[in-house]
Amino acid sequence: MKKYQFILVPVLILALMTNVKLIGQNRTIEEKVDSLLAIMTLEEKIGQMNQYNGFWEVTGPAPEEGDAKQKYEHLKKGLVGSVLNVKGVDEVRKLQELVVSESRLGIPLIFGYDVIHGHRTMAPIPLGESASWDLKAIEKSARVAAIEASSVGLNWTFAPMVDISRDARWGRVMEGAGEDPFLGSKIGIARVKGFQGDDVSAYNTIAACAKHFAGYGFSESGKDYNTVDVGTSTLYNIIFPPFKAIVDHDVKTVMNSFNILNGIPATGNSFLQRDVLKEKWAFDGFIISDWGSGFEMIAHGFAKDLKHVAELAANAGSDMDMESSAYVKHLKTVVEEGKVDIRKIDDAVRRILKVKYELGLFDDPYRYCNEKRESELIGHKDHHDAVLEMAKKSIVLLKNEGQLLPLAKNQKRIAVIGALAADKNSPLGSWRADAIENSAISVLEGLEKYSKNITYAKGADVITGSATFINELTINKTDRSGFQEAITLAKTSEKVILVLGEHGFQSGEGRSQVNLDLPGVQQELLEEIYKVNQNIVLVLMNGRPLTIPWAEEHIPTILETWHLGNQSGNAIAQVLFGDYNPSGKLPMTFPRNVGQVPIYYNYFNTGRPGPIDLVFWAHYTDEKNDPLYPFGHGLSYTEFEYTNLQIDASDNNVIKVGVTVKNIGKVTGEEVAQLYIRDKVASVVRPVKELKGFEKFSLEPNESKHVEFTLTSKELGFYDQEGNFIVESGTFDVMIGTSSQKGLTGSFERQ
Ligand code: NOJ
Repeated sequence: MKKYQFILVPVLILALMTNVKLIGQNRTIEEKVDSLLAIMTLEEKIGQMNQYNGFWEVTGPAPEEGDAKQKYEHLKKGLVGSVLNVKGVDEVRKLQELVVSESRLGIPLIFGYDVIHGHRTMAPIPLGESASWDLKAIEKSARVAAIEASSVGLNWTFAPMVDISRDARWGRVMEGAGEDPFLGSKIGIARVKGFQGDDVSAYNTIAACAKHFAGYGFSESGKDYNTVDVGTSTLYNIIFPPFKAIVDHDVKTVMNSFNILNGIPATGNSFLQRDVLKEKWAFDGFIISDWGSGFEMIAHGFAKDLKHVAELAANAGSDMDMESSAYVKHLKTVVEEGKVDIRKIDDAVRRILKVKYELGLFDDPYRYCNEKRESELIGHKDHHDAVLEMAKKSIVLLKNEGQLLPLAKNQKRIAVIGALAADKNSPLGSWRADAIENSAISVLEGLEKYSKNITYAKGADVITGSATFINELTINKTDRSGFQEAITLAKTSEKVILVLGEHGFQSGEGRSQVNLDLPGVQQELLEEIYKVNQNIVLVLMNGRPLTIPWAEEHIPTILETWHLGNQSGNAIAQVLFGDYNPSGKLPMTFPRNVGQVPIYYNYFNTGRPGPIDLVFWAHYTDEKNDPLYPFGHGLSYTEFEYTNLQIDASDNNVIKVGVTVKNIGKVTGEEVAQLYIRDKVASVVRPVKELKGFEKFSLEPNESKHVEFTLTSKELGFYDQEGNFIVESGTFDVMIGTSSQKGLTGSFERQ
């Protein structure tokens, strides 16, 4: 089995006067890695830097025609360090056995997969989970995903995506934590903790991957894979912080990205990978390229051919090559020609082997292959309980005028309208790993558990035909044949629950859009129903912020439910009938109009913030400046009152700010108190607001709580144009409240 041990014996007896036992025991991982490295050929080293896709699943276009036979030969020769998209104990074991028993050194493979929001049991999409602002719940959700993924032989997830995104046109906003670096950092840390646990070598934890380094969320015009051109201020203060935060929390791997950043493709970018990540931040795990991102440097006009790709990527510090085959085909020659120093190869391989040791793969390459665990754990009831909790916490009550919600349990004649209400597939969302098609509880199923007085009419489909992860969708823009039935039903019902929004595959990779309105004929359907019955609860399902100004103006109650995963319908029903009081807050601004995008709360003031009577100020002549729903917004069935803002700035290093929050409504509820600051005058202009603290807590009616935050230099400082972290004295404004737009304000002087 562990051939490398036998080969090590003579080498180490000679060189180290030791024996095989000592290799496995009483030696640090670094020493073991060095011993192994010492007996590896250049080809074997490069093999560790090569990752192949499994042969039957595709999450991107194959850069070269997949040559399964050659891949198989490479596996046997030890020319593959990792595979992705192979899952299931049986399949994983087969490949691992092949490599461990056939290759000269038998170095085990590491098996990666996109476990983004659950493996078999789907939790809400990450943007949805982020709306909970509940770090414990998010950590638990990632833990559940890791338990399931590790039970099917996987030991590495390509998550969390910590790309900050301000542009809802970009389909991948569903995969991240939204627009804010502070919230994004906390959520990133929670996810890494959940995946990796306290001991990454445990059989039920997996290595995490911070992606995509860097700037991928800032693609021009929200088009996936597009150019990224950002200044140092945004790079250091907005894009980098979540990566830095999780590197500091020992994330084992980082993925680079498809985009060029200020002219240099991320995969060939040594400023990003070597200077910042590996040197400045002392990241000691390994960097994987994105799918074929090495190869794509040719299209970018940065590399002339695949050999050049190998040279550029290896020199820039991209340690493992996902599906470009650049390293396996050309790196040896490039090294022999002296274009890449062997020390760079050794560094990359050391990093990869280290993570494999940390995962325990050298102790037991089949550590994650246990049929019993696989059959017992996959889709376990406890996992469904956990994702149900997560789903409820992810729901955001955007509007509740006239207290249409919660519904009374004895509510008569409820109409449920909209194809998404009966959809058991869409709620699973994009990036659904190994979810079973149509396995979500639909809204209709959830509601039917509560009431017998429910009648359903589809109204209109969101898409025509079927939808898959890799194909384009066709939005239904013409078929209104179901309108009449829905209108008739609405007329005779007391209340209408309209479930509208996006199909689960409308967001995700390659799903950029120029239009953020309700897709297809759904807006028309909404307006037609409104004409006959205004008691509408609009339940939105979507993977990105939508532009719904008409709904905001006319519809009394709007509930944001994202794509909530397997327990979607149960979670939504519990909220609609008041068994769960919604507490989510938006992690991303909702624009009024797509023309406002990118729109985000932590913008900079212009020199002409206005408003003034003349036309010469920073505004649109045909739309308001402010968003439809701001970052941090989210209502509850109860109400919270903020009073008594206290600021104690007597100690420059530990400034204390606090408020009293009271539940002045009739039911128990959870609130997220949010602290924002503004550095009024700085050597580099600071945003009008920056989130620097939040706390989520529950209050009974009439109960109050004093919430206190501490501001240290960490929260008050920022990165200057050279990337140095500095803290300046001066006046700071403070706001603590229920959203980024509503709260108590004060200020203090930092000496
Ligand atoms: C491309 C995506 O950008 C990345 O996030 C993902 O992990 C890989 N494909 C692998 O599927």
